[in-house]
Amino acid sequence: MSSIHTDEVVSHHLSRPVALIGLMGSGKSTLGASLARRLACPFMDSDSVIEAAAGKPIAAIFAEDGEEAFRALEQKTIADLIATPGRSVIATGGGAVMRPATADLIFTSTLSVWIDVPLERLVERTSRQKNRPLLQNGNPGQILASLLEVRTPVYRSANIHLKDSDQTPSELCETLMRQIHEYLIEK
Ligand code: S3P
Repeated sequence: MSSIHTDEVVSHHLSRPVALIGLMGSGKSTLGASLARRLACPFMDSDSVIEAAAGKPIAAIFAEDGEEAFRALEQKTIADLIATPGRSVIATGGGAVMRPATADLIFTSTLSVWIDVPLERLVERTSRQKNRPLLQNGNPGQILASLLEVRTPVYRSANIHLKDSDQTPSELCETLMRQIHEYLIEK
């Protein structure tokens, strides 16, 4: 089946937003933007929406208001994004599904996709940026390893499990389109 045909069929059958979940550095924003292009729909990143609404970076929200305040903002933002009419792709922050109310929104009202990336690649990718408050106090590799252990059972609740085994970004997007097609139509 051609990619264009897959794109059209998937777009036609998609009746809820696609939400990408997974650890920091799993590539939710990059993949989300590519997926939205293929589905010809808007892409929204919950962290960026929160930063715009708060008027400050996530790191400043954590430092000045605390993680609980951030999680409450995250819950409200994701609820608003899900409620926006029409098809969309939403990249969620890596810890969003660890708050039960936010997880409930994502797992009941979206087509959820867990991007499963090996720990070494998460460490490598996140080491290039300094904007993640949870990785600033301690050894980032150890922090990511323990977050991966605690969060994996929750990430597994996603409708689709996408394994990133070193594909190029466009190959990964193609694999995801096929998995969505299979989930929506062939099941
Ligand atoms: C967090 C992940 C971040 C951001 C915040 C907390 C987490 O988003 O929401 O720093 O708890 O894993 P990304 O997963 O987009 O980096």
